[in-house]
Amino acid sequence: MEVKKSIKKLFNKFSSSPDRILVTGGMGYIGSHTVVELINAGYEVCIIDNLSNSSVDVLNGIEKITGVRPVFENIDCTDYVALDKFFKKYEGIKAIIHFAALKAVGESVERPLPYYRNNLTSLINILELMPLNGIKSIVFSSSCTVYGQPDELPVKETAPIKKALSPYGNTKQICEEIIHDTIHSNDKIKSIILRYFNPIGAHPSAEIGELPNGVPNNLLPYVAQAAAGIRKKLKVFGGDYNTPDGSCIRDYIDIMDLAKAHVCAMKRLIDGKVESVETFNLGTGRGLSVLEIIKTFEEVNDIKVPYEMADRREGDIEQVWADPTYANEVLKWEAKESVKNTLRSVWKWQMHLMEQEEDHTKGGGMISGS
Ligand code: NAD
Ligand code: UD1
Repeated sequence: MEVKKSIKKLFNKFSSSPDRILVTGGMGYIGSHTVVELINAGYEVCIIDNLSNSSVDVLNGIEKITGVRPVFENIDCTDYVALDKFFKKYEGIKAIIHFAALKAVGESVERPLPYYRNNLTSLINILELMPLNGIKSIVFSSSCTVYGQPDELPVKETAPIKKALSPYGNTKQICEEIIHDTIHSNDKIKSIILRYFNPIGAHPSAEIGELPNGVPNNLLPYVAQAAAGIRKKLKVFGGDYNTPDGSCIRDYIDIMDLAKAHVCAMKRLIDGKVESVETFNLGTGRGLSVLEIIKTFEEVNDIKVPYEMADRREGDIEQVWADPTYANEVLKWEAKESVKNTLRSVWKWQMHLMEQEEDHTKGGGMISGS
């Protein structure tokens, strides 16, 4: 009898169709790497993206790595009707990972309303449509920015949430609250909120990575472009912070490690292990200064990064790094990649972008993307 049961279980395991996951913002930096990991873990992935900060070429990269070309629909998550149609067309979505958002901190200060409209409306639409389409689980992309400058380091999930320093940061705080309130009112919905620290690097194949949008705001794309001679000099924002070398400290996490955490979160939700909302820090637990990053990048890639010390950047936090213990224990996930390998992948990706640009120029075209 027991043997029969086991055979049946085994048969069901292999005969049942894979769980279908919707990834919003799946053409973007973190989304595309997560799509790769989801496909590798056996999920069927559908992507929604409005390509406001990504390129349709990302699908080629995903296909080259995984051998699978996921469904992609160019839909804006603020468009309720289009989203509703999507859910009717692709029935049976088991869970959602919601990445789609605008994310440039500085721009959000200049143009707050598009940030509030985009980031809040997208989430509200998704949360409204979930119960109407029998979807119970959502993973939400939040940020360590919700902690501001924490009083205690490493920062735990239970640390107080301080007044946001930017409209972008505020959208993350409000979105977290929206999720809590929604689940309080509908206990059938479950959520995992992931607070990312500083994701860096690219897929080791260099088939996908972070597409720089004009002059990069973030450190690593700027470091890579300065090393490549595309930018004259990197400005190190602040050398007079209260840190060992005077530059800011962050918890830089490899993009593939970050992507894998989403697969763990998805499994936990689908296995029914989440009672309402769970929130996790995704970081390495180790802080590195801007100057340490530059030095290590130079060493591992055997290339100089031209840089100069500059004034502090307004709104920057002095130092922050994660206590990832809760994610380690509950999600059974850990950031494993060495920062050296991650910084190698940054340079490999930069070279891939430059080769592509050369090919396109020769062919008379431009590199597509943002
Ligand atoms: P990204 O810009 O590369 O990806 C976001 C994707 O969402 C893009 O492809 C964009 O075109 C799409 N998008 C934006 N608004 C949309 C809309 N209304 N409808 C459909 N698609 C839309 O950004 P990322 O770095 O991959 O970030 C993903 C998520 O993680 C975001 O929510 C971001 O706020 C959050 N996050 C990022 C970081 C980071 O440092 N990269 C840190 C913390 C949190
Ligand atoms: C911030 C937010 C993060 C958000 C991200 C998106 C915090 C703690 N983090 O990351 O949630 O998702 O922006 O953009 O609020 N630096 C230089 N020179 C440069 C660029 C950066 O010295 O040209 C320094 C910064 O001062 C900072 C570090 O490098 O100390 C990292 O900066 P960046 O990559 O912009 O990320 P954060 O500001 O940490």
